[in-house]
Amino acid sequence: MEKSNGQPKALQPILTKKEKIAILNRKNQEALLGGGEKRVASQHAKGKLTARERVELLMDDGSFEEIGKFVMHRCKDFGLDKEYYLGDGVVTGYGTVNGRLIYVFSQDFTVFGGSLSETHAEKIVKIMDLAMKNGAPIIGLNDSGGARIQEGVVSLGGYADIFYRNTMASGLIPQISAVMGPCAGGAVYSPAITDFIMMVENTSYMFVTGPNVVKTVTQEDVSAEELGGASTHSTKSGVTHFSFANEAQCIENIKRLLSYMPQNCEEDAPVYEYPAQNDEKRIVLDDIIPENPNQPYDMREVINGLVDENSFMEVHRQYAENIVVGFARLGGRSIGIVGNQPASLAGVLDIDASTKGARFVRFCDCFNIPLLVLEDVPGFLPGTDQEWNAIITNGAKLLYAFSEATVPRVTVITRKAYGGAYDVMNSKHIGADMNYAWPSAEIAVMGAQGASEIIFKKEIAAAEDPKAKLQEKIEEYTDKFANPYKAAHRGYIDEVILPQDTRKKLIRAFTMLENKVSSLPKKKHGNIPL
Ligand code: HXC
Repeated sequence: MEKSNGQPKALQPILTKKEKIAILNRKNQEALLGGGEKRVASQHAKGKLTARERVELLMDDGSFEEIGKFVMHRCKDFGLDKEYYLGDGVVTGYGTVNGRLIYVFSQDFTVFGGSLSETHAEKIVKIMDLAMKNGAPIIGLNDSGGARIQEGVVSLGGYADIFYRNTMASGLIPQISAVMGPCAGGAVYSPAITDFIMMVENTSYMFVTGPNVVKTVTQEDVSAEELGGASTHSTKSGVTHFSFANEAQCIENIKRLLSYMPQNCEEDAPVYEYPAQNDEKRIVLDDIIPENPNQPYDMREVINGLVDENSFMEVHRQYAENIVVGFARLGGRSIGIVGNQPASLAGVLDIDASTKGARFVRFCDCFNIPLLVLEDVPGFLPGTDQEWNAIITNGAKLLYAFSEATVPRVTVITRKAYGGAYDVMNSKHIGADMNYAWPSAEIAVMGAQGASEIIFKKEIAAAEDPKAKLQEKIEEYTDKFANPYKAAHRGYIDEVILPQDTRKKLIRAFTMLENKVSSLPKKKHGNIPL
C-alpha cells in the first residue's frame, strides 16, 4: 500500500457502490433464469412447471427465502469449465405453508437436466440439516436426470449424503417427495426413504433401470410410462402414495397432506376449529351394513359418515384396495384410519394390504397421530401365490406395527373379525385402548360354514341328509359365535354400540386418550420382519 506523509493512502474502489449493487441485481436476475429461456420454454411445452414456479405455488405468498442462489459447480471436465449456471440446478430454501415453517428443494431440469452434482447435493444436504435441527418438514420436488454424468463419483457421494440424511430424518420430521419429471437409477432411493411420494401423471417416472437396460437384460419391450409412470406406481407397485393429473393438483395436495401432520415427532398435529355439537348422531351409518353378511359395502362410506365433513384424505387409494388407509379429522383433530374394505376381495388381508397398512400405522405412530381401525376382515388370503411370496413375513409387519404403536388406538368392528386377522387388526390383546363393536359384528375363529364343515365333519357325514345337517350346524355356530357378545363378555370388546352413536363415542374416546403415556421397553430398536 502506498504511503504519503507517513499515512496510508486510501485505495480508490474499482467499483462504485451503485455498480456493486448492479452486479448483485444482475446475478439475481441470472439465477432466476435457470438454464435459459429456451430450456424453460421446452419445460413448459412438456406440461411441466419450472423449479421456481413450483416453489412459488407451494409456499405462502412472499414467504420463500432462498439459500445458495449463487452456488456453482466445481467440475472442470468434459467442457463444464465453460458452462455454469447460478444455483447449479436446484432451488433450495425455506418458507411457510399455511403459516407453518417448511423447508424445500426443487430440482431445475433446465440446468443440466436437473442432474445432481457435488454442489447440487451440498445444497440439498444443507436444507435437510436445517430442517432436522429446527424440527420442520422437508419437501423435495424431484425433476432430475440423475447423477451429473460429467462428475462421476463425487455425484454418487452426493446421493449417498442425501440418502443418509433421509434415514436420519425418518421419524424425526415429516418428509414428502413429489416426483415431477424423471427420477431414475439410484436417485429413486431418496424419495423411497421419505414418508410419502406423489407423482404426476404422464410427466413423471421412477425406475432403477430404464427401458433400454430392461430390453438388454430381460428382452422386455416396455415404455418409460409403463415401466415407472404414475399409474404403474400408484396401482401395481405401490411405490407412490398419490398420483395427480397435473402439477398444480399435486402441490395443492402436498399442502393438504401437511395439514394432518405435526412439525416433528415431539409435537402434535394442528387442531382445526370444529364447532362443538350437542348431537353427533349419524343416522346414515345405520344403513350401511347389508343384511346379508356376504354382501359387500364400501368402507369409505363408513369413514365419511364418521369423520368431520370432507376431511378424509385417502393414501394409496388405488393400491391394495382391500385395505383403506388415510388421514381425517374427528372434532377438528387429526387421526389416521386403517379400514378393511369389504368392497374389494371381501376385505381380506394379503401381502400388499399388510405392508400398506403397516407403513401407514408406523407413520402415524412416528408423528403422534392417533389411530382408528375399522374392521371387517374374513382372514388372510389363502393360496400358493401368497404363501410363496411370504404372507407370513408380510402379515407379521402389520401385527408388529400395531403392537409397537404407542399412540391412542381405537378399533370398531363393523362386521367380520375372523381368525388371526382379528388379532392383527388392532385387537385389545396387542395394545388397543378402546375396542367397540357394532351389533352386526361376528367375532370368531372362522366363518360359520367353514367352521361347521370341520368340527361337525363326522356328524354331517353320518346324517341321513348331510346338507340339512350342515345347515343346522351352520345355524348353531352362527347363533353361538357370529355376534359380538362372546367377546364383550370377556371384555375384549369394551362396548357394543349403535352405528349412529359411533362418531360421538369416538370423539369422546380420543379426547379421553389425549394424554395417553405409553412407552416401549428400553432397547436400541426393534427388528420388524422386513
Ligand atoms: C448431466 C444431463 C444428465 C445427467 C440430462 N442431462 N441428464 N447432464 N448429467 N445425468 C442434460 C442433457 O445433456 C441436456 O443438456 C439436458 O440435461 C436435458 O436432457 P435431454 O436428454 O435433452 O432431455 P430429455 O429428452 O427430456 O431426456 C431426459 C432424460 C435423459 C431421460 C433424463 O436426459 C437421460 O436419459 N439422461 C441420463 C440419465 C442417466 O443415465 N443418468 C444417470 C443415471 S445413474 P442440454 O445442454 O442439451 O440442455 C444415476 C446413479 C445415481 O443417477 C446413483 C445414486 C446411488
